[in-house]
This record gives sequence, C-alpha cells and structure tokens, in this order.
Amino acid sequence: EKGGYEHFMLKEIFEQPQTIYDSLRGRLSLNPAQLTLSGITQFGNELSQAKRIVILACGTSWHAALWAEYIIEELCRIQVEVDYASEYRYRNPIIEKGDVIIAISQSGETADTLVALEKAKQQGAIILGVVNAVGSSIARLSDAGAYTHAGPEIGVASTKAFTAQLTVLHLIALKIAELKGSITAEKFTQQLTELAAIPEKVQQILSTQHEKIKLIAKKYKDAKDFLFLGRGYSFPIALEGALKLKEISYIHAEGYPAAEMKHGPIALVDEHLPVVFIATKDFYHEKIMSNMQEIRARKGQVLAIVTEGDELSKEIAQDYIEIPAADEMLSPILSTIPLQLLSYYIGVELGLDVDKPRNLAKSVTVE
Ligand code: F6R
Repeated sequence: EKGGYEHFMLKEIFEQPQTIYDSLRGRLSLNPAQLTLSGITQFGNELSQAKRIVILACGTSWHAALWAEYIIEELCRIQVEVDYASEYRYRNPIIEKGDVIIAISQSGETADTLVALEKAKQQGAIILGVVNAVGSSIARLSDAGAYTHAGPEIGVASTKAFTAQLTVLHLIALKIAELKGSITAEKFTQQLTELAAIPEKVQQILSTQHEKIKLIAKKYKDAKDFLFLGRGYSFPIALEGALKLKEISYIHAEGYPAAEMKHGPIALVDEHLPVVFIATKDFYHEKIMSNMQEIRARKGQVLAIVTEGDELSKEIAQDYIEIPAADEMLSPILSTIPLQLLSYYIGVELGLDVDKPRNLAKSVTVE
C-alpha cells in the first residue's frame, strides 16, 4: 500500500508530479489557452463583481489561503481577507452582500472550518470550496468550488494536498481574472503555460535533489530551533516549511517574512541556528540575498532554496538546494517540495513516527 516507499509521507511527496497534474487535467488546455472550471464559472457574475473575498482555513490549508491572497489580489484586483476559521467563528465578522467565501480543506471535516462556513452561509455569503475529500461535509456545504485531485492523503502531515491546493487556487484566480477582464490574453496564456510545466519541474526536483536533501537533513538534525524566511509569494511557504518541521521532527521552528527578521527574530541568530531561506529569483531576490548575508555575518547557518544556476546565492549559503526557474507566482509550489523532504528526512534521522506524529490527528473534528 506504500508502493515500495518506507512511509506514506514519502510516497505522497513523490506522488506530487501526478497529483498536481491531476488537479490540472481536464481543466487547463494550451493552444489555445483555455481554462474550464465549471464550479467557478457558475458564479462568474458574483465573482467578477465581488468587492471582497474571504478565505477561511486552518493549518497547512491556511498557508495555502495566505498564498492565494497574494495571487488573487495580483491577478484579480479583488481585496482578499484570510482568516483562521477558529478565529472567524467566534468573532462578529462583517459580511457584506456580494462577499464570496473560499473554504480550503483537505479533509473537508475540520470542525472549526465547517462552523465558520455555516456562520457565513447563514449571513448570505456564497461559499466556494477547495476541498480534497469528495462528498465531505465542507464539500457538501459549499455552493460550488473546485476539488483538489490529490487522492487520499494518509500521512498526517499534509504534503500533496497542499501543492494541489496551490494549483487549484491558482486556477481559480486565473478564472476569476479572465471573467473579470483583469488579465491580458498574453498574461493568461503565459500563466497557464507556466502552470502546465510545474509537474515536470516537481519531478526534476525529486529526481535531482533527493539524495542531497538526505545529507542536509543529517547535518541539521540536531538543531534545537530553525527559522524559515521568505518574502512575497514565498512568505506563506516559509510558514509551511516551519509547520512541517515542527510536526515531523518536533524541532521548534518559526516562519517569518524575511524583512521582519530585523524586528526581533535576528536576536536568536548564533552559530547554532539554521535559517532556511527561500531565495529563488523573483522581485525580492536582491533583498533576500542581503538578508542571507546578514545571517552569515552573525554566524547563523544559511540553507537556501535557490534557482538553478544562481551562483551568487549559492556562494552566500552554506548549503543550498536548487530548483528549476519558474514564474515567480508559481515558484512557491516548487520550493515546497524540498522543504517537505527536509522535514521528512530530519524526522527519519531522529527515529520519529513521521506518518503519525505524536498528538496530531489527520482530521480535526473537534474544536
Ligand atoms: C498540517 C496539517 C494540518 C491541517 C489542518 C487543516 O500538516 O495537516 O495543519 O492542514 O488541520 O486540515 P484540513 O485541510 O483537513 O481542513
């Protein structure tokens, strides 16, 4: 059942070229660039006129929500608010006519998310679900949506469901942008072309970086704390990298937007602190490089995820993992892969039960 892999988590990490492809299949086509998402098109008018989109989720799914905020605001020019379902359900949230809610959930059974959605629905909001488990409670409560086709996820820590969420959220953003007319035909085609290339690039990372990440995991496994830093589209991935490490290795880790480092976390930096940077080539690249230098200057250990061939970043970092170049909005899908493998191998090195970390449940059906 583990298909020859030692753990479900590793199997599910390696399934990602296929699961991302499955989330695109039947939806995306090229020459001409076309995107079919009937669940979204059904609410085309509401979405193109929406003043605000609120995204509700928990945990890893909340990280996908945060990433979607950046993407939707950029492509659709609609204001997005992201909230933890557990906070939203007990607040007195403002829901205005025409607000659209997007719910993200792998299991479709997370109690906090479900209750938050019921509350929003009672107040008249339209609910779109980005759910993995077909027919689950959240899927049934949603007015429409788009399933992530990641297949059953057995490992307690979410891996393939997360990258499928990013994929589907990107499709949704592109569809809304197309309906709204906030994207040019050229940009639309470019984005779909880039997205179609992602499964192959994920495969490339798995094939070329896997052995190297095992060695890096051995080197860093005894650290007591980790920092994960990224900016812009990669900031939510830094949070996800830190969460994954906490769950799988029980090592304390925090994710931050890289520029926030100076506002506190930099006090933690000494020779014992590994700092993982998502330092791929994008708008922030130069700034991230100077953040890496600042960590080196304070004797911190820099482990960087870099774009293939980026010699400058490789020189600054003590250790690096290379990923293929991609559009800056989509590169975070690629950066996620090495971070999953890193926490997996650190957990394995420490002899922990990576498929069932202590105290965690696959679906959190109590609050
Ligand atoms: C992290 C993880 C949890 C879930 C969270 C939400 O690896 O698995 O943080 O992401 O409990 O679960 P879903 O997506 O099922 O609503």
